[in-house]
Amino acid sequence: MKGIILAGGMGTRLSPLTRVTNKHLLPVYDCPMIYYPLRMLVTAGFEEIMIVTGGDHAGDFLKLLGNGSEFGLKHLNYTYQKGHGGIAEALGLCAHWVDRDPCCVVLGDNIFQYSLAPAVEQYRQNPVGAQIFIKEVPDPHRFGVAELADNRVIHVEEKPQNPRSNWAITGVYCYDARVFDIIDGLEPSARGELEITDVNRAYLEWGDLRAAQLDGWWTDAGTFNSLLRAGQLVAETGANQPAPSA
Ligand code: G1P
Repeated sequence: MKGIILAGGMGTRLSPLTRVTNKHLLPVYDCPMIYYPLRMLVTAGFEEIMIVTGGDHAGDFLKLLGNGSEFGLKHLNYTYQKGHGGIAEALGLCAHWVDRDPCCVVLGDNIFQYSLAPAVEQYRQNPVGAQIFIKEVPDPHRFGVAELADNRVIHVEEKPQNPRSNWAITGVYCYDARVFDIIDGLEPSARGELEITDVNRAYLEWGDLRAAQLDGWWTDAGTFNSLLRAGQLVAETGANQPAPSA
């Protein structure tokens, strides 16, 4: 199974912080933001990792991370997204490298209190279909939202005005190789991007979407408030900690 970090985008919600650098290179407490998803994947056992970046500062990722030796890796892979075609488009750029293996995708601004190793392992045991990772939040309208019935996902929606539940879909996704066929058939959303929620909906319609419910805190870091909160949470507890049940 391969790991992918999506670290492109324009970071417009953080302008002017992102005027002369990429969002994922900004500090979250004592580390650049991208360290957290990278450590998350390494902690979950991934050795083959691709970083998708974009914009004017892509070379800085290579300067910062090199071949990933600081993270215990032998090698890191990089690819480049032109423009801002969305999360699903960025993932589509990895089709050739993933080469029909299952993959775990993480958005470069997502940070988790606990290691996702146990939840990723659930998917590794049976790597068919898709698995999303969900967390109850007070502000679901900011995220993809899943509606559940008997612990099964029955509906997914991107940033709904009237959310059907408080279950946010966090920025980690496990997919089998069909994800790239789905992406090939996607149409851009109203904001002109290929949406990851449309990918998840395709799996849901096939009856092949499962959800892992997460313990501990989770945050994105793509707005001023969430960036501040991310720094405070990391300072208080650290990130990617061993799960309490482990
Ligand atoms: C993206 C996804 C959304 C998800 C969120 C998690 O939103 O589109 O479904 O809940 O990441 O961080 P974005 O932050 O790109 O607006």
